[in-house]
This record gives sequence, C-alpha cells and structure tokens, in this order.
Amino acid sequence: MADFDLVVLNGLVVHHDKTEQSDIAVKDGKIAKLVPRGGLNGASATKTIDAQGGMVMPGGVDAHVHLAEPALFGKGKSADDYETGTRSAIAGGTTTVITFAPQRKSEPSLLAALEATHERARDNCYSDYSFHLICSNAGPKAISEFEALREAGISSLKIYMTYEALQLKDSEILDVLFEARKQKIVTMIHAENGAIIDWTIKKLEEKKLFAPKYHVTSHPPVAEIEATYRAISLSGFIDVPILIVHVSSPAAASHISDAQKKGLPVYAETCPQYLFLTRKDLDKPGFEGAKCVCSPPPREGEQDHEGIWQGLENGTFTVLSSDHCPFLYDNTEIGKKACIDDEYPNGHFKYIPNGCPGLETRMALALSANRLPLQKFVEVTSTNAAKLYGLYPQKGALIPGVSDADLTIWYPEGMKEFELTNSMLHHNVDYTPYEGRTMKQWPRYTVLRGQVVWDKDNGGLVGKKGYGQFLKRDVSSLAGPVSEEEWSVEKF
Ligand SMILES: *[C@@H]1O[C@H](CO)[C@@H](O)[C@H](O)[C@H]1NC(C)=O
Repeated sequence: MADFDLVVLNGLVVHHDKTEQSDIAVKDGKIAKLVPRGGLNGASATKTIDAQGGMVMPGGVDAHVHLAEPALFGKGKSADDYETGTRSAIAGGTTTVITFAPQRKSEPSLLAALEATHERARDNCYSDYSFHLICSNAGPKAISEFEALREAGISSLKIYMTYEALQLKDSEILDVLFEARKQKIVTMIHAENGAIIDWTIKKLEEKKLFAPKYHVTSHPPVAEIEATYRAISLSGFIDVPILIVHVSSPAAASHISDAQKKGLPVYAETCPQYLFLTRKDLDKPGFEGAKCVCSPPPREGEQDHEGIWQGLENGTFTVLSSDHCPFLYDNTEIGKKACIDDEYPNGHFKYIPNGCPGLETRMALALSANRLPLQKFVEVTSTNAAKLYGLYPQKGALIPGVSDADLTIWYPEGMKEFELTNSMLHHNVDYTPYEGRTMKQWPRYTVLRGQVVWDKDNGGLVGKKGYGQFLKRDVSSLAGPVSEEEWSVEKF
C-alpha cells in the first residue's frame, strides 16, 4: 500500500504568514506532511501532482454566498442552488462556502430556518459548507435560540439595516448584539441607511428616472457611511465583535479603520465588485446595466477602487468575499428582467433583483490583478474567514495532522493570458459581470480533503455532488470583546 493518498511536489507553498518551497503529503483527507522540497523523495503515493513553477495555497474560503434563497422580497429568486453554486466554487478554487440560512420576518424561529436550509444543501454540495443565519425577526423566540444555534455549529448571524423585509430597528440590533456577546456569536451587518435610500428613490421617481444606472444614485455613499458608523457605535456600546459586510466606499472603510485603531473588534469585508466595477458598468445601453445592480452599488471609479485595495493591503478589510447573489439576466419571472412590466416597459431600477454572481471568479480576478502580496491574498481569501467564523485551523491553513487537505494549485507563472467568458463558468447564471476581462491566472487544480475535485486540463470538474460536507463551526478565534466582564447597564 502507498504511504500517502496524494503528494504535491515542487510547488511554491503560500501560507498567510510565510512562503516556502515545500512538498505536501496527504493521508485520509488531512495534510500529513509539509517538508522542504525534495523531502518526500522515495515516498509512495496513490496520486502525484507536480506543481513545478506554480503556487499552492490553502483552499479558498468564501464567507458570503447566497444560494437557493427563496424570494425574500421582490421577484428575484436565486439562479444557483447548492449543486450549481458549489460546483462553481470548486472550479474557482474555493473549497469552503458559508451561505445564508434566511429567516423571514413572519417566521419567529431561527432554528426552523436552519433546518430548511440544511435540507436544501444536504447531499447536494461539491464543496464543504456552513451557514450564517439571517435574522430578520429578532423577537424573543429567535433570541432565545442563539445558544442552540451555537451548539448546532453556527457561530455567526447576519442582520440588515435596510430592506423593509429584513431591516431591524436600532433597538432590535442591540437585542441581537447583546445576546450575540453572551453566546460568542459574530454578527455580520449590512450597513446601509434604509431611510436615506427610500427618500432618494422617491426623488428619482418624481423625475421619472428609472434606468438601471439610477440604482447607484439611489444608494449614495452617505447611506453606507452613516450606517457603518452607527453599526460601529452600537457594537461598541455592547462591546461585541461585528463584521461589516460588503464595504464599497473608502469613506466607510475609514470609519472602520478608526474603530480598529481604538482596539475595537470591528471586522470588515469587501468584494470584487468594489475593486473591478464602477457606476459606468450600470450605465450601458438598454437594460444591460441591470447585470451589475447590487447593494451597496459599485462606486465612481479608480479612486474608490484604490481606497478599497489599500484597505485590503493595510488590514482594514479582514476578508475578500464574493457576495455571490445570482440572478438570471434574461428572465422575466425570477431574473433581472422581472422588473419589466406594463407600468415600466423599460424596467425600474428599484425592482431589479439586487446581486451579482462572483463565486467562481473571486480568487482568479483578485490574483490576476496582481495587487496584493501573495500572503495577504491567502489571508483575505482563505485564512481570515476561517479564523473569524470558527473554522481555523481545520480550514484556511496547511498544518500537518490538523488541517484538512484543501488546496488551490495555480498555474505556473507566465501562463497564457485569456479572456474570461461566461461560457467557461459553472454557475447557473446567464452572464458574468466580468465578461471579456483579461485573466492572468486560474486554478489548475482544486483539492478538497485530499480528493482532486477540479482538474482544469484533464476533465475539469471531477468532483462529485454530495462529497461536500457540512462544517460544524467553533467560535471565532479572532479578538472578541475588549472587556471580559459581563455587560452591565450600570457602567454607563
Ligand atoms: C488603510 O486603508 C483605509 C481604507 O482605505 C484607510 O481609511 C486607512 O487610513 C488606511 N490606514 C493606514 C494606516 O494607512
């Protein structure tokens, strides 16, 4: 019998904290050995990958993915289910996704939402997976279930400061944060001020401005900046970690950076759409701009992109996630075109389903941009998400005897550039916002728990539906509350 199930030889192995020429041996789905190049000479293995000239990294962890969500408001319904979404993940080098289990406002229980989501995912996944609960009804029942959620391996929740169907009032946000602190749950916050957005939409409607590009106008930076500052203030009052999701504007990032300088456990996420898309992408002939409608919207241009890259480089952003939120474009029932009707024959921006696909392109786009030091790239696309959401060091690391053998193996330096087209991708969406971009990299192999699941030059998608497992998560290993004492109102 062979010593190992798989060996990966001659690669440049990039961790979040070091880069080395190493060989890797895998046994029973785990990293068994990580030794200087040549150190596995003579070992026998069932399968050998020669990664000469290429980079080897811990498998990507995408911590912001929407799959198989029912229409929570408006007409849009996810184009991807757990099967098509997770197959697209592994084809793009992501071995773990954390998706959302949405609770409706009319539904008091979070555990019921969790069970319903388990059902949609079970036996359907190509990648490993876990869920964040979306809490849109923060009543006593939901709050009383936080402890049980933790025991079920769910150590994070998401709440919204906008969208009528999901939005919580400040007092409800405090209720959530208060209990989250007790249960060591990380709260993710969609920080936009819903009232500013609604007010601006009315002003645009008075002028009969309905084109997709007005989506950007209707979500001005001030809505994000104000809500970000408010979220930081509320979490500071309770002294509990939060993560501000999908930050798009550098001015919001600067509030986050200030909070971090004060030592507050404020974490933040950004996404490729805020590095690569701008308002111009929503201002295309006809209805085309609807493809890039997401919230918050892409901002003005280069300067905003620059600020967001800088925030990734300097650690303001903890994670780079996709916010994959897939809607068909050319579909009038559940897709972007569902907002076209007799009243609005050219559509109305406020009814366009909000979201862009990006699970498969997240890592290759960011790597092709050649902007981040490689270790930083690993940190923000894999390691930090694993740490923040209680998966480290099983995920996001390559530690012998400890970490799962999840690997993303890139092409040797100098691979032939190519133009991205939607036809290469494995999601169930009829477009990519990044059509025609020049790509300098793509994962050559993706390995999940020792199995090659993506082999670009030899069969492509070779993983199996159902191989992906649910990951019961521990608590966050990033810094928690500043004070270890119990929160007491008498301190104020
Ligand atoms: C890091 O980047 C953020 C976001 O662009 C910025 O606000 C902050 O000032 C930067 N911090 C440092 C130390 O450069």
